[in-house]
Order: sequence, then structure tokens, then C-alpha cells
Amino acid sequence: METLRVDLADRSYDILIGQDLLKQAGHRLRTLGVSGRVAVVTDENVAALHLEALGDGLNDAGLSMVSLTLPAGEATKSWPHFSKTVDWLLEQRVERGDIIIALGGGVIGDLVGFAAAVLRRGVRYVQIPTSLLAQVDSSVGGKTAINSVHGKNLIGAFHQPALVLADVDVLGTLSERDFLAGYGEVVKYGLLGDSVFFNWLEDNAKDMANGDIAKRIYAVKRSCEMKAEIVSRDETEQGERALLNLGHTFCHALEAATGFSNRLLHGEGVAVGCALAFEVSSRIGLCSQEDPSRVRAHLEKMGMMRDLRDIPGDLPDADVLIGLMGQDKKVVAGTLNFIMARGIGEAFVTSDVDLDVVRQVLTDSA
Ligand code: GLY
Repeated sequence: METLRVDLADRSYDILIGQDLLKQAGHRLRTLGVSGRVAVVTDENVAALHLEALGDGLNDAGLSMVSLTLPAGEATKSWPHFSKTVDWLLEQRVERGDIIIALGGGVIGDLVGFAAAVLRRGVRYVQIPTSLLAQVDSSVGGKTAINSVHGKNLIGAFHQPALVLADVDVLGTLSERDFLAGYGEVVKYGLLGDSVFFNWLEDNAKDMANGDIAKRIYAVKRSCEMKAEIVSRDETEQGERALLNLGHTFCHALEAATGFSNRLLHGEGVAVGCALAFEVSSRIGLCSQEDPSRVRAHLEKMGMMRDLRDIPGDLPDADVLIGLMGQDKKVVAGTLNFIMARGIGEAFVTSDVDLDVVRQVLTDSA
């Protein structure tokens, strides 16, 4: 098992990555001073697969569990389910000294984290991420949110978890599509800041996708390690943390264009977005043409989408997509910021990108 520390003064916490962590959850919570009853919030899909195992793990340490099961899917990250969750936690008499568990993927983690941020002005919570995407990205770093009719993740708070338990065994229940969507966020880390990790992924990601546990642990660990380092230096995204959004400006436009539907999962959009970001970087002379070719070749080897034409159904034209990018949270004072790259592992933030090049890259990719 691997343990990483997110260093944030009195808000520091551990990320544990390994096998059998649902079973050990109760003992791990005991180390945080938890006793008695624990409130768990999950979704219907995850509850069917993992809630009983978590309950057993809590019981093993003399803890009992009460649980709320929400519908699965992005629509749950909304005011109605948020208020239902907060009211349920109050009904359960969750108090300031208690701990709430978020058991699920990014939707549950984001919603429960936000509920914990506002409940009695802030209660501790533990993330038990069950998707690859949540294990490598959304469960770490304390960004919590629900969606608004005005856009994704627009209502939220920074509220760090007290512990993250990333049990790689649960990844075995993911569909291949969900696993690979999460992999979009893994490859992002190599591309944004660690070319050696990207090399490793080129050689090992197929084994990892095929179920190699040691490689899964290594990939989750390296991703979390990179995120933990960046978050420790820039918790509230005043600068460097924006690098974690490599591929996301394109991704958010594509998600909006596909109605946040099953046509394009978030991590799939991140992979396409990374390929586009490298293509733009190369065409504006920041990196060599070999870099986008390498990114695309790797995504192709993994059986992943890399172009607009790979997304099923019609998409709006490049100008409409650029307009949708303008809705992104990375617009500051009307300026669209992009994460570009000087090479693999060398991303940086800039607003100095010729939109004509972006338009051409989008058109060529369609
Ligand atoms: N998912 C990007 C971040 O946590 O900053």
C-alpha cells in the first residue's frame, strides 16, 4: 500500500492507495478519532457493488453505518439532491466532530464534499473514490461543487477531505469505457508535468487497463502525487493549479456541445482536449509536431477518442465551440486562458493563443 501526504498546514491529509481498503475503512477512520456511527452517502450503482463491503469494514472496527443512496449520474450534482443530502445529514444528527463518507465517483465526491463544507459551517469528510477518474483527480484537492443551470461546478467551495482511501480493487467493477475515461485524467498528468511518467504509460498503460494491479497502484499513486504537490503549492488555483486543467477548455466546450450526455464522458473529453491542446501548441511553434503525434498515437493504442470526428453524432462548427469555451471558468476578465505545452511534460498557462489557429485545429479534427 502507498501513502501520500497532501501538505496543507492544519488541513493536511493522507491519500492511501492499495487493495482491501474498503475492508480497512473502519480502522482507518478510528485513527481520525471517529467512534460510533458514520454517515455514508453513495449512489445506486456504487451501493449495489460496494456499500455492504464498506459497512462490513466499518463494523470490523466497531463502527456502525447509516447511508443515503442517491441516483447515479451527473444530474445528481444539483440543488435538489444537495438539499436532500444536507437535510438527511441533519436528520442523522451529524455534528461538527463527526465524519461523513463520500463513497462513489466524481459526482458523489463533489456533492458530498460541498455538503460537508456547509453543514454546520464545516464537517470533516472522507473520500472513498470508486472510479479511476475520482481516484486520480476529483477526490484529491478539496474542490467541491454542484452544477448550476449556468454551467458545471459553478456552485461550490474548497473543502479538503480528512482522508482519501483509493481502493484499486473497486476499479475491477468499472466498464472498459469508464476505466478508459478515467485514464484520460491519468495521461493528463504525464502530459502536463512528467515526461518520464508519460513514457511509462506508453509502455505500461495497456497492462494497467487489462487489470495489472501493481501498475494500477503505481499509476494512481503517481497521478495523486503530482496532484498533491500542485495542490500543496496552490490550493485555491491562483496560478499553477490551473495546469491540472490541461485539455479541459476544449473538453468543457465539447461536453456542453454534447449536452453533458453519454456521447462524451468527461475523461474522454479530457483526452480529446489534450490531443487538441498539443496540436495547437505545435502549430503555434511551442512544441515539435512529433509531440501531438505521440499523444495521438498513444490514445489510439489505448482505443480512445482523440479527434472531434471520433465523438458520435453531429457537433457544432468551430466558431460555436470557441464560443462555448468562452463559458469556461478559465475565462478571466473576458480573456480565454489556455493550457499549452512546450513539449511532453511541459505545460503552462497562457492567453496568448491565436484563435484562428484554434479554429483551424478544431476544423481539421472534425
Ligand atoms: N480537477 C482540477 C483540480 O482539481 O484542480
